[in-house]
Amino acid sequence: MNHDRSNRVCPVENAGGLDNGIRKFLQNPRKILSPYVKAGMTVLDVGCGPGVFSIEMARMVGTSGRVIAADLQDGMLEIVKRKIKGTEAEKIVGIHKCLSDRIGVTDKVDFALAFYMVHEVPDQASFFKELHEILKPNGSLLIVEPKVHVSRSGFEEMLKLVRSLHFEVAERPKVFFSRVAMLRRLA
Ligand SMILES: C[S@@+](CC[C@H](N)C(=O)[O-])C[C@H]1O[C@@H](n2cnc3c(N)ncnc32)[C@H](O)[C@@H]1O
Repeated sequence: MNHDRSNRVCPVENAGGLDNGIRKFLQNPRKILSPYVKAGMTVLDVGCGPGVFSIEMARMVGTSGRVIAADLQDGMLEIVKRKIKGTEAEKIVGIHKCLSDRIGVTDKVDFALAFYMVHEVPDQASFFKELHEILKPNGSLLIVEPKVHVSRSGFEEMLKLVRSLHFEVAERPKVFFSRVAMLRRLA
């Protein structure tokens, strides 16, 4: 099932548009994530792009935790690698290359973030099934989609799919200009 817009993957040349001060002000990563991401957790940032959220999550989980920054584009992963090189985050963030039809992460995670990426995934059913396997029991998944690309009905359709795949919608947090759902993995 797809959203109402073509699932074109965001090109690496657009990375700067995702990683700038105005966006961080309007969509403050720490503010968005602090209810869910705690010290010591293992977390996944799937479709991490240039790593805006991965790097903030590294600060939040600390050295006792782990962040998996996963993307299918080498160019995005290179940006993340460059940014964390020589910093504390380098010890916490693991870089993972996804395939177009498989996330491929084998670790189990407490929390997964899919920020502005689900509408780019062609086979969402298999994507969410795989996320269900990757999440620990009671793990949670935060989905944030851009209003500009995903209609209200498209988002609700996607939630219907996710519910059918053993997730429950636990919360509907607010993020600027976005459609958001916090999902809990059911057994
Ligand atoms: C619009 S960007 C968002 C990046 C980041 N989450 C953010 O909000 O700053 C979408 C990212 O998802 C990645 N992506 C799209 N489909 C993917 C898939 N099936 N598996 C992994 N990454 C994917 C793209 O390569 C791109 O880097």
